[in-house]
Amino acid sequence: MSPKNITIIGSLNTDLVTRTRRLPAPGETLTAKSFNTAPGGKGANQAAAAARLSGDGVVVKMVGCVGGDEFGRDLKQALVDSGVDVEGVVVDKVEKSGTAIIIVDEDTAENRILINLGANAKVTKVLFPDSYFTSMNPPISALLMQLEIPLQTVLHLLNLADAAGITSIFNPAPAVPIPVNFYPKMDHLIVNETEAALLTGEEVEELDVEAAAKTLLERGVKGSVVITLGAKGGYFSTVDGKGGWMKPEVMEPKDVVDTTGAGDTFVGAFAVAIVEGKSVEEAVKWAGVAAGRKVRKRGAMAGIPWRNEL
Ligand code: RIB
Repeated sequence: MSPKNITIIGSLNTDLVTRTRRLPAPGETLTAKSFNTAPGGKGANQAAAAARLSGDGVVVKMVGCVGGDEFGRDLKQALVDSGVDVEGVVVDKVEKSGTAIIIVDEDTAENRILINLGANAKVTKVLFPDSYFTSMNPPISALLMQLEIPLQTVLHLLNLADAAGITSIFNPAPAVPIPVNFYPKMDHLIVNETEAALLTGEEVEELDVEAAAKTLLERGVKGSVVITLGAKGGYFSTVDGKGGWMKPEVMEPKDVVDTTGAGDTFVGAFAVAIVEGKSVEEAVKWAGVAAGRKVRKRGAMAGIPWRNEL
């Protein structure tokens, strides 16, 4: 039997991570607690999560673009170390690799992120001819995409994937409005509270999560809508009428050290569960456990758990 193929088309970033007790005020200079560089990017993190969390019989392939610099080399190596096939990662001779400046608040473990697309902006439609998905070997079992590459590329790929009958898992992060005619091209839509609010035109503080999931599903998503709520758990709703809340893992505040990449871990784990034939409800539960493990460790990619840790 040919292996299942989870393909991620998305970003690779080097994370420049500063940890601080508080954020500097405008015009203020503060001394940080620590600084380090680490592999990241929503696409790369989701690829690492899918590879680390999958069992035998699954291959995970990353498709994206890095610069011909040290960051790009290290990013590819970090993915290889997680078990990801990086043949589809193009090295651009002109652009620098993508970067993300991340400030982690030591007290709350929450992060603020500022990205520079760099070579990720080179992942354009021209790389993906109409025959792209039909020529894959082994054929794709699940396609994962986010929004740290150009939106036009992602929309083009949603069209191609839909036409080729490939299961797509779309995590529109960071969120921008998506043309309504593209919702019927997605199989599974995974968003956090902020993204759900932006897509539905609500204020995040006033978001009715169940209503937002219903609205997004009614736009035509083919399988399910999942809204993750960090420490509060999450909610899912499927086209065949199933839905429910996922309970958060109860954790001591001191155990939560870094939430960066928790959402990516969730998406990667969800994809693995779906290709393993689990239901959306089971996939959501398992992905929640994986994300709960992630926040106990530092680093967006470095902190992603392996299958035997769940
Ligand atoms: O989701 C976390 C990721 O967002 C980080 O690794 C950073 O690169 C940004 O893309």
